[in-house]
Amino acid sequence: MRTQVGIVGAGPAGLLLSHLLHLRGIETVVLDNRSRGDIEATIRAGVLEQGTVEVLNETGVGERMMREGFQHHGIELRFGRRAHRVDFPSLTGGKSVMVYAQHEVLKDLIKARADAGAPVLFEVSHVSVYDLDTSSPRIRFRTRDGALEELACDYVAGCDGTNGVCRRSIPEEAMTVYEKVYPFGWFGILCNAPPSSSELIYALHESGFALVSTRSPDIQRMYFQVDPGDKVENWPDERIWEEFRRRLATEDGWAPKEGPIFSKVIVGMRSSVVEPMQYGRLYLAGDCAHVVPPTGAKGLNLAVADVRVLAGALGEFYSSGSTQALAHYSSTVLRRIWKAERFSWWMTSMLHRFPGGDEFQFRMQLAELDYVTSSRAGATALAENYVGLPMS
Ligand code: PHB
Repeated sequence: MRTQVGIVGAGPAGLLLSHLLHLRGIETVVLDNRSRGDIEATIRAGVLEQGTVEVLNETGVGERMMREGFQHHGIELRFGRRAHRVDFPSLTGGKSVMVYAQHEVLKDLIKARADAGAPVLFEVSHVSVYDLDTSSPRIRFRTRDGALEELACDYVAGCDGTNGVCRRSIPEEAMTVYEKVYPFGWFGILCNAPPSSSELIYALHESGFALVSTRSPDIQRMYFQVDPGDKVENWPDERIWEEFRRRLATEDGWAPKEGPIFSKVIVGMRSSVVEPMQYGRLYLAGDCAHVVPPTGAKGLNLAVADVRVLAGALGEFYSSGSTQALAHYSSTVLRRIWKAERFSWWMTSMLHRFPGGDEFQFRMQLAELDYVTSSRAGATALAENYVGLPMS
């Protein structure tokens, strides 16, 4: 088998890259060890930056998002038992975000691959990438039926996430990993209930962080900070609702709308960046190269921003033979990535209780929230990052 760009991983980065390259007339093969059903059912984040929405619309895969997604014009920051709204359009020249779940974006992109006659190879196994530092890198894998295949490529795109094979195939001495692990995790629930709020609520309380998000008119997504070693078994429904009621309470008696909880997960929180995002003819994009804590809702958006640049650089190579943009891919995207890393770290630090943190630190966090919600400069700094900094 032979293709122009071999793409490992059918998440947001891999699927969108394949779509963008297809529109430029460049042939790709996307493979993933998961099944289509698993990919389409895995619940992840759900906030799309304005720039992400634009890319999906401009490339013809945004139709269902525009119909079923929810445009949000602000968020609420809740602390000191009071609600404070940050209005995006007035602070960012009219920008907003879209709440539309990641797995719905993936369904739309997988359908686009199938419609283009370039279906994704799901449920492959034993994936390895090699000859990366030659002009003909290869991907070897077993198909779902167990047949051994070798795919010769001009380029390989590593879009297979943090634990994927691509990043592990780069010699250790050829990259640097910058990492920070946070001493807390998020307990996430999905429940059948009407929305508690028309906008997302990020709350800081003496007992820790809480977030009210949404998935649809009758499914809600909510999170609260826990010890990363905690177990879902320790949290019967009533204890969860008690925690939400406490952390989200306001002076005027606000309470979340409760309903049957049908999913409980605990996720760890970390920040990490790999530099450079390239080795030979292997280019990394998305979680494979960088992870953000979910507080800034940046993960999927960063993947989209990466592959926009990568698709442009590969497009330049195939149309003119120039490798200039490819040579600058890593440094170009890393500038924006580090700013999103900073924003995610800042939101996380401002909104969580740090175990062992003293009262002074907590007062500093409250003062910062007060500043952000009472100063136009402070609110603008949050808003322009949340809706998404300009694309590279
Ligand atoms: C979500 O809806 O899952 C969500 C929303 C906002 C975040 C993180 C996760 O910052």
